[in-house]
Amino acid sequence: MVQASESDIINIGGVLNDSARPLKERFRALFTLKNIGGVTAIDQIHACFKDPSALLKHELAYCLGQMRDPAAISILTSVLEDLSQEPMVRHEAGEALGAIGDSSVIPLLEKYCKDPVPEVAETCELALNRLRWLESNGDAKNLQKNAYSTVDPAPPAETTDVSVLKDILLDEGESLFDRYRAMFSLRNLATTESILALTEVLTNRVPFLQKGLKAGSALFKHEIAFVLGQLQDEVSVPGLRTSLEDTEENEMVRHECAEALGSIATPECYEILNKYLNDSKRVVHESCVIALDMCDYENSAEFQYADTLAKLPAA
Ligand SMILES: [Fe+2]
Ligand SMILES: [Fe+2]
Repeated sequence: MVQASESDIINIGGVLNDSARPLKERFRALFTLKNIGGVTAIDQIHACFKDPSALLKHELAYCLGQMRDPAAISILTSVLEDLSQEPMVRHEAGEALGAIGDSSVIPLLEKYCKDPVPEVAETCELALNRLRWLESNGDAKNLQKNAYSTVDPAPPAETTDVSVLKDILLDEGESLFDRYRAMFSLRNLATTESILALTEVLTNRVPFLQKGLKAGSALFKHEIAFVLGQLQDEVSVPGLRTSLEDTEENEMVRHECAEALGSIATPECYEILNKYLNDSKRVVHESCVIALDMCDYENSAEFQYADTLAKLPAA
């Protein structure tokens, strides 16, 4: 938790809400508010949901979920219910409601499990599974125990056998919740073999399409890309590259691949990200801007992206 005075928080909120500022500065302000926490920080984040950038708004919802403060439940509820918000933003609001872990949102999530947008419906189903899992396992802390200090949308699977986990991961017939559990187990193993298994979810799209099958859940693939970003292993670069370069792929997946490349931050990552800086999809080109900023941080002496007040530009 970062210490800050009320006026500091309002100044940082001013950066977040200033659409004339470069997007990367606004992202850094957002992550600083997340680390500070509390009602004033939440109010500043709330005010930004009027912004036209879906990328920024989905990150607002993500941060509200990671803060795990029940004070954000009503904000996230109205974002999920607001059909004028982009699917990616509503998805993140649903996931954040699951992350906060308060069972009062179960009826709301049950309603949006039937949303016509697959990413939103699947997210709400996962969030419901998470809440029910918490109710029957009662140990919320276990869900947070991972090397990345993030609140995961599902607990890791019990087994650590990579071939068993990979079979579940790639089986479209398994429930999304169990595939997520396999994914988090493979992430926690963090071996080359487990990372390559995760990467296969991204690269098997083409054979799937050739066989006339559906390309698979965009939600699942975007989360795969997210965990590959957490793992920061170069072996996943070809898979992430393939998905970012696939202009037919769902933009939420391409966005998460760009940011994962940003956290891996090798010279090849710079080259790929620079190439998609002018992508026709706003979410993709903005993700490349943020990802290049992440690359710069990874390659500087700074220890963690957007982690301290000191990195913030003057408000
Ligand atoms: Fe997401
Ligand atoms: Fe994202």
